[in-house]
Amino acid sequence: MLVSPSILSADFLRLGEEIDSICKAGADYLHIDVMDGHFVPNLTFGLPIISQVAKRASIPLDVHLMVERVEWFVEYFLPLRPEFISVHIEAVAHLHRLITHIRASGVRPAVVLNPHTSEESLRYILPDVDMVLLMSVNPGFGGQSFIPSVLDKARRLKDLIESKNPSCLIEVDGGVNASNIKSLQEVGVDVAVAGSYIFNSSDYAKAICSLKP
Ligand code: DX5
Ligand code: ZN
Repeated sequence: MLVSPSILSADFLRLGEEIDSICKAGADYLHIDVMDGHFVPNLTFGLPIISQVAKRASIPLDVHLMVERVEWFVEYFLPLRPEFISVHIEAVAHLHRLITHIRASGVRPAVVLNPHTSEESLRYILPDVDMVLLMSVNPGFGGQSFIPSVLDKARRLKDLIESKNPSCLIEVDGGVNASNIKSLQEVGVDVAVAGSYIFNSSDYAKAICSLKP
């Protein structure tokens, strides 16, 4: 299991130190939750902060865009060279065009599904993406409870991936902790995002280790 801690739950007044600690603690990616107050009812951080974060982090960024006007934000974040840019299927009219553009710009494209969106909606885009992010909470806030129906969705998605694009990764985001990580692993999840579980712990390395069963 790869682990992508969400800095949404970090102490923003000590963001630089938090990034250093999480990178040293064995995280694989740094998950960046960009919210615009329109697609989701919350605001987080934009380009000025994340370009500083990108300079400080010694591990690759995993950018999750929870925004309307997705095409604008993709242009802002491409020059930071994150490992992944994830865009919500619910927010993009011309998904194939945007995914193709992200890949042509040298960044790995990923698509995100809200809890109510079926894995079937991915059938014709799956060959073009490197990762699918399944939301296991309604996006907008850290610290919410895990929605268990994501397990069935991940299992069905895994079957679809095997027939359409076997190297595509599955990432799950929201309410992930040591008590649900084994069930996520069993249904084929490759990358776990965790915010409050890791940042509210007193030992980041131990918390990350507990998500790699
Ligand atoms: C929710 C964000 C998540 C969030 C995860 O909208 O996309 O990445 O930070 O936080 P936890 O792990 O606390 O649910
Ligand atoms: Zn996220």
